[in-house]
Amino acid sequence: MSTRNKIIAVGGGKGGVGKSIVCANMAVTLALTGQRVILVDGDFGASSLHALLGISSPKYGFREYFDHSGLDSNGEDALLLDTGIANLKFVSGAGDIPGSADINIKNQNKVISYIQSLEADHILMDLGPGTNFHIIDYFNIAGKNVVVSTPEMTSILKSFSFIKATLFRRISQEFKSNSDIQHLLDLSKNPKAAEECYEISSLRQKVEDLHPQKLERVNEIIREFKPGLVINRVRRQKDIMMGDNLLKLAKKYLDVDVTLLGYLIESDDVRDSIDEMRPFLIKDPQSKPSENIQRIIGSLTNTNIHLVKKDDSIYVSQQIKLSSGWGQ
Ligand SMILES: Nc1ncnc2c1ncn2[C@@H]1O[C@H](COP(=O)(O)OP(=O)(O)OP(=O)(O)O)[C@@H](O)[C@H]1O
Ligand SMILES: [Mg+2]
Repeated sequence: MSTRNKIIAVGGGKGGVGKSIVCANMAVTLALTGQRVILVDGDFGASSLHALLGISSPKYGFREYFDHSGLDSNGEDALLLDTGIANLKFVSGAGDIPGSADINIKNQNKVISYIQSLEADHILMDLGPGTNFHIIDYFNIAGKNVVVSTPEMTSILKSFSFIKATLFRRISQEFKSNSDIQHLLDLSKNPKAAEECYEISSLRQKVEDLHPQKLERVNEIIREFKPGLVINRVRRQKDIMMGDNLLKLAKKYLDVDVTLLGYLIESDDVRDSIDEMRPFLIKDPQSKPSENIQRIIGSLTNTNIHLVKKDDSIYVSQQIKLSSGWGQ
């Protein structure tokens, strides 16, 4: 598998929707199936992923990495922290400096190169909220892009904006030296662009008018972008259906195919696991939320995963599905 395809980024425009919970438990599930997994805290504004794994104060994190002297003689290797879970390593965002601020472009590139150099079967990256470029750029280094949303329409709309910002950023990065296309896409410098290019059809039309030879590449970028969706905090059947709204919006306005990977129910098991600083997958792999996450990983890896706990050990049975899976 290419490095890009090994990277699974978990994002979504809205704060507090459960990105970190979903990402951490996805990483644990993959590790429990015997694959080498590295979980990376890519939320530099409010790193807290370590707490979900039971690490109260990470010894090293990216903050020390930016100031290289902050690491010990092992250099970069010192960033790979043990989690106490077999096959799962963790890279912390914050280190022991509280309240880390936004990172500059030099450090951002450093983090991206570091993540791309990691050796593992899967690298999961938990991102912070919002749609600013440095979050989107992390999201875009991944071959598998997971968006987490709650069923509320406000969250669905934020997720749509996040997907749109991600797509536009991909096109913008591809045509860096083309000022016409930059102008069309640069929503921050050109507020009108938000309206004019609300629909991908109008963007396509404008690109065709200005640079017809570039249209096919734009179409390719749209086709290659296949985000997966996880609906979190599901309380009733109707909540799962809310995901369809995002699938329809993304198809209608962006021509992007979003796949519903699965959902996670609203549950005290989830809340308790946060309070106890222990992933719910480890606590009870047969609880409802744990089964939800296994379904999500199943959609991601095109397998049926079933984890069972017996005498304090967790066992896995895993079968390859015959039908084709996400992104295939
Ligand atoms: N399935 C769930 N059941 C119950 N509570 C949940 C569930 N998912 C999330 N929560 C609650 O929502 C809180 C926020 O979750 P989490 O930190 O994963 O969100 P986030 O999207 O990563 O937030 P941020 O945008 O700040 O990074 C949790 O601490 C928990 O209280
Ligand atoms: Mg988070």
